[in-house]
Amino acid sequence: MQMEELVALCRRRGFLFQSSEIYGGLNGFWDYGPLGVLLKRNVKNAWWNDMVESHNEMILDQGAPSTYEMTGIDCSIIMHPQVWKCSGHYDLFHDYMVDCKESKKRYRYDHVKGRWVKGLKHGEAGTAAQELTVFITTMETEETQQALEQAAMKFFGLRKKDLESLSWEGEIESISSLDDLSQVVGPDAHHPGTLTSPREFNLMFKTTIGALGGEDDFSFLRPETAQGIFVNFKNVLDSSRIKVPFGIAQVGKSFRNEITPRNFTFRSREFEQMEIEFFCHPEESEKWYQYWRDRRFKWYTKMGLTSDRLRLREHEQAELAHYSCGTADIEYAFPFLPEGEYGELEGIAHRGDFDLRSHMEGKLVREGDQLVLQKDANGQPKYRGSGKDLTYFDDQRKERFVPHVIEPSSGADRATLAFLCDAYTVDKAPTAEKGADAERVYLKFHPRLAPIKAAVFPLVKKDGMPEIATEIYAELKKHFNVQYDEKGAVGRRYRRQDEIGTPFCITVDGQTVQDGTVTLRDRDTLEQRRVKKEDLLSELNDRMRM
Ligand code: GAP
Repeated sequence: MQMEELVALCRRRGFLFQSSEIYGGLNGFWDYGPLGVLLKRNVKNAWWNDMVESHNEMILDQGAPSTYEMTGIDCSIIMHPQVWKCSGHYDLFHDYMVDCKESKKRYRYDHVKGRWVKGLKHGEAGTAAQELTVFITTMETEETQQALEQAAMKFFGLRKKDLESLSWEGEIESISSLDDLSQVVGPDAHHPGTLTSPREFNLMFKTTIGALGGEDDFSFLRPETAQGIFVNFKNVLDSSRIKVPFGIAQVGKSFRNEITPRNFTFRSREFEQMEIEFFCHPEESEKWYQYWRDRRFKWYTKMGLTSDRLRLREHEQAELAHYSCGTADIEYAFPFLPEGEYGELEGIAHRGDFDLRSHMEGKLVREGDQLVLQKDANGQPKYRGSGKDLTYFDDQRKERFVPHVIEPSSGADRATLAFLCDAYTVDKAPTAEKGADAERVYLKFHPRLAPIKAAVFPLVKKDGMPEIATEIYAELKKHFNVQYDEKGAVGRRYRRQDEIGTPFCITVDGQTVQDGTVTLRDRDTLEQRRVKKEDLLSELNDRMRM
């Protein structure tokens, strides 16, 4: 599938628009249109329902070390600045960036990729050609040799037929693996050596609270929903009868001032997360980590991401975040990534007791395999914690401990994007319905995710058919999101619904008027069955639960 085709469909049919489009757009921000809002809400609802609401704390889940409870929370986006100091985000949540002095553009250090190349640079008129070895770079998502050749042609002033005169050396690599940037030609530059040394750039959006706006009045838009859960751990315990092991779930907006937002909604500056912080006894934490890894992977497959583009990858030790003693990513081979590369959909992290202890004692750092209080130059705690007791007393074990945390953290926008990519299907097979040549594009969403569950059509606008169809529509509308359409040939109407992923179409025809049956058409198989009008609701309910 070509990503451009999906992006065009998303815009044309109202799934996704660029934010502030009429003013030229705003990089890294997206608006969900009438169908997009339904799709993303269905993703979030399916997650919330499967993880929280329908979880039965009395039944042992397959693979779970014991029964457990689940509950939810909805925290504010702006929190006390101390939260971000103790969580580590204030000091550590940064990317490295480089600026280009020539193009005035800014790039994420590890995202600029290139390769060494030697060639004759043809100067401006009248100047002699000069032999140069430079590191040619690109920010293209497909960091292929082809993209680098284009960049090299521009730099050396060559035509395509002269490409053979260049000699390439080494492999394609990120500029972050080079010791010196003086020979690097920036992605949009004409000269080498215009990239600055890498600098740290904190990804949190800073904001001012209140009218006075002094240095003490700043805080940040949350870069993750997780911290709201940790700082409310005691409130949840004290206000409910919940017992460890249990999970607190939250769905909400997060903000990161990404240096290079890109790949449609994949890396945005404003996005939604669906996070669970699962609290358990330290000795059980490894088993819970395994459980959540496997459970979350199965969830994506159950929701239709069945293709071999989905995988579960355990992190190497060096990749682990500062707090983590084990992380696995659920990844999807998005079509905008180079062949063989995967993008993260969700991370499942074993966070140990880092978060609760940091909010209790102050910001911790790892020393060997210990977490110790980070000190300033005077030997005082660098960032003080709340001083509140965030331990848990287990009255069965008769033991007090700081629970360990397993965190399945998923992106609602990335999940929605993966479902869109995976659903996009082009059907070229000849069928009676569409004829031999016509191509059929459809979104093969799981019925739970489909924005519109069914469409109701009268075959023609006469002979009592519209009246019956509107009756069916009114009845089904009480239960699902259903559309009514009587415009154009019925084949066209099917195509319109296929393209937005509606799993079922119901057509009222001449026979309906006589025997009360309608045709129920399946989006994926194109099979049409006659069903009694009064059985439609239960039939759709059954198929929706697939
Ligand atoms: N609390 C842990 C945490 O936030 P993360 O891996 O930084 O971990 C979790 O983020 C998920 O949030 C990612 O797997 C991804 O789905 C989503 N996410 C992170 N940054 C994002 C961005 N800039 N745009 C869209 N989604 C993003």
